[in-house]
Amino acid sequence: MERQLTILVGTMTGTAQLVAEEVGDALTAQGVEARILAMDGLDAAVFAGGGAFLICTSTYGQGDVPDNAQKLFADLEQSRPDLRSVVYGLIALGDRTYAQTFCFGGKRFDTLLQALGARRIGEPMLHDASAGTVPEEVAVEWIGPWIGLFRQARDEAA
Ligand SMILES: Cc1cc2nc3c(=O)[nH]c(=O)nc-3n(C[C@H](O)[C@H](O)[C@H](O)COP(=O)(O)O)c2cc1C
Repeated sequence: MERQLTILVGTMTGTAQLVAEEVGDALTAQGVEARILAMDGLDAAVFAGGGAFLICTSTYGQGDVPDNAQKLFADLEQSRPDLRSVVYGLIALGDRTYAQTFCFGGKRFDTLLQALGARRIGEPMLHDASAGTVPEEVAVEWIGPWIGLFRQARDEAA
């Protein structure tokens, strides 16, 4: 498994980008090299060669992935690459006001990546914008234990 982690950001109004930046800083501080990539213009090739990813995405429309994630999502669905060499963590942003589709943007990625053979590390982080908590603060707390699980997976793969 590559040593570097790629954070893929799906966002409409920038919250997920902010979360990715704070999480990226926390990873760096813990000695994990991380790069942040907006999903804009990406396709399934971003997963070619495998490696470790953090999917950091919000939800829009009726439980859809954000506009900048549509192409990547559709390409994965259509080309259905073998992602057995991919591990990933999931940070999903949503709002429980949308009760029927809470965090579906992230959940859709989760379901699709697993169907393609990728392995999720840890439980997803689901942020509820109506809860009054600051998403980047919740994410930085969540990433601490996640780093431990990530290291374990990396060592097992080595
Ligand atoms: C028009 C609109 C539709 C939304 N639809 C959903 C939804 O279906 N499910 C959900 O959990 N959150 C939904 N949200 C909430 C956003 O995902 C949430 O506010 C998120 O933090 C925004 O992150 P971003 O700035 O990175 O796009 C919606 C927000 C807006 C403005």
